[in-house]
Amino acid sequence: MKAVEIKKGIYWVGVKDWNLREFHGYTTSRGSTYNAYLIVDDKITLIDGVKAPFTDELMRRIASVIDPEKIDVVICNHVEMDHSGALPAVMAKAENAMLYCPLAGERGLKMHYDTTEWKIQTVKTGDTLNIGKHTLSFVQMPMVHWPDSMMTYVADEKLLFPNDGFGQHYACDEMFDDVNFDIVMEEAKKYYGNIVWPYGAQVQKVLEEAAKLDIDMIAPSHGVIWRKHIPEIIEKYKLWSSYGHVADKAVVVYDSMWGSTEKMAQEVAAAWIEKGLKVTLCSLKHSNISDAINDIVEAKYVALGSPTLNSGILPTMGAFLTYLKGLAAKNKVSFCFGSYGWKKDAQSEMQDILTKLGWELPEPIMTINWRPTAEGLRQLHESALKVIKE
Ligand code: FEO
Repeated sequence: MKAVEIKKGIYWVGVKDWNLREFHGYTTSRGSTYNAYLIVDDKITLIDGVKAPFTDELMRRIASVIDPEKIDVVICNHVEMDHSGALPAVMAKAENAMLYCPLAGERGLKMHYDTTEWKIQTVKTGDTLNIGKHTLSFVQMPMVHWPDSMMTYVADEKLLFPNDGFGQHYACDEMFDDVNFDIVMEEAKKYYGNIVWPYGAQVQKVLEEAAKLDIDMIAPSHGVIWRKHIPEIIEKYKLWSSYGHVADKAVVVYDSMWGSTEKMAQEVAAAWIEKGLKVTLCSLKHSNISDAINDIVEAKYVALGSPTLNSGILPTMGAFLTYLKGLAAKNKVSFCFGSYGWKKDAQSEMQDILTKLGWELPEPIMTINWRPTAEGLRQLHESALKVIKE
């Protein structure tokens, strides 16, 4: 359990949670990491912590460099427990340490832990802290993705610690983004869609602040450290935070009872492929809602299909739409379809939710009674084609 030096005198002391498969409803098929960093300077500084069950591993990594009792400064960029869970143990060990966080962070820490014995100093955007050779500067980034969120910048090292920003739930044997680029970007997109998506305006402000900084390394609190592909991830954050699209991306999200709506979903996909789009067909029976979100983050066109069950949508589609509403997904061109027996409620229910989200719905809902006939599928095909703007 050794620390890994990422820049001279600056170490990764985090943990890799290889077996994590679920993160409050988000499937994490590649596990995750909780990245903490140690700066050895006149003041020994720990940036962020790890999830509570991994406290011992954090301590052992710190101890491979320096006695944890010698920590002088603790920076808490974010109170969420995957980063703060180990802080009670750290603060107990490093009795003289001063913890720095925004006011919202102090409030959050006091709500989660007994901080009676902790020394806490609040900071705000523009504040700096000299720790010897290095000076840390702080930039608050409220609602990216909690009120307390903050990033810490080390100017002389061109090093940014943005906590959850630019993170990926991805455990691997690499420390940096030098390899497996496609996987890293895919996990960064999934992370953005499922964690950060509702806060586009706030992310844009953070990007404006980050643009003022000279950066050659971005060390997030999850996943690999960015050093090779910084321009690419910044560009993607600009796209995602502005609710932009990859123009030819489309997704058909659906569930089916007896296969009729599935046939319809396949027909919509076929129409869109015929139109030259890159289409993903996502069955909610087989894919988790967080994977569906990953599919649609940068898609322009999203079709939703559900049959009517009793007097509403299938529960899988209900869960997906509830999640989608919470994420405040914006700016999609959409189309609702599905089969029914004696009531058509599901499709209009889906359409009502998408209307409230402000999605563009250029075509009326398309329903098929019981079983898709060749003529029914032909009409559906035509409707799906009309959704696509030239
Ligand atoms: Fe990685 Fe918001 O915690």
